[in-house]
Amino acid sequence: MDHLLSIKDLSQAQLLDLLALAKQIKTNPADYRKALDGKSVVMLFEKPSLRTRVSFDIGINKLGGHCLYLDQQNGALGKREPVSDFAANISCWADAIVARTFLHSTIEQLAEHGKVPVINALSDLYHPCQGLADFLTLSEQYGDVSKVKLAYVGDGNNVTHSLMFGAAILGAHMTVLCPPGHFPDGKVVCEAQALAAQHGGTLVLSSDIEAIAGHDAIYTDTWISMGDTVSMEEIEAKFKPYQVNTELMAVAGAKHFMHCLPAYREIEATAEIVDGEGSLILQQAENRMHAQNAVLVTLLGQ
Ligand code: CP
Ligand code: NVA
Repeated sequence: MDHLLSIKDLSQAQLLDLLALAKQIKTNPADYRKALDGKSVVMLFEKPSLRTRVSFDIGINKLGGHCLYLDQQNGALGKREPVSDFAANISCWADAIVARTFLHSTIEQLAEHGKVPVINALSDLYHPCQGLADFLTLSEQYGDVSKVKLAYVGDGNNVTHSLMFGAAILGAHMTVLCPPGHFPDGKVVCEAQALAAQHGGTLVLSSDIEAIAGHDAIYTDTWISMGDTVSMEEIEAKFKPYQVNTELMAVAGAKHFMHCLPAYREIEATAEIVDGEGSLILQQAENRMHAQNAVLVTLLGQ
């Protein structure tokens, strides 16, 4: 493993190893206090963040490493100098780059022109760190993730893509339910379906919300992602049947609710569900740090 750009690039063994290591770090943090001793990580963020920024910063600190956050105050990435120069220069000092960018191609350029591992902290296409934390959460709840039936409801986006790849590689069953015109990227769907077939999983896509029946966990995300240009008025009526509420959870027969956060209560899910007994949102948020630390130790650990 040279970088973490997408979950798609991981074999099943690599993904299972990362989840096992994350559990190990979570349970025995003292054993990893010097895992990143003397290592520096630069974090480049083109978009806002709470969970990703804080969990990487504190996580790196807990592993004995040092991290430096760069926002766009000193010039937007690629504007003052090319992304390739940015990557080459940062590689002179840092041991890894964590990047949150609008375009996935920017992250690919950082990996191509830098000499250090690059970790995708969210792009328009993928959110692999989120996916890893989510499968860590499901494995803590259910043990064998290949037995889990996961439904994603709402806007087919970066988070959906990473969940589809993770579920496919782990051989789980996943259903993606979106309003017409808001499905995940067609190429990503084909790749994920091929991976699901290879690993004994299934990936079903539908606009029929009744297909939610028979799932263990229901996952949703914001209906408008960072960088999207649609207005709420435009999409609210279209998405209303896909809101996660008590009725939908009952039709699904689901025990758990998941959301990457930030959550917009009473929009994509009701407050009753987001803050309810079956909600895994804070376990997912906590697991961001443990999953990312497993990635850092795998890429940089000594
Ligand atoms: N889930 C997630 O990535 O949150 P942030 O945007 O706050 O980092
Ligand atoms: N799909 C959302 C995820 C936020 C963590 C976005 O890209 O804005």
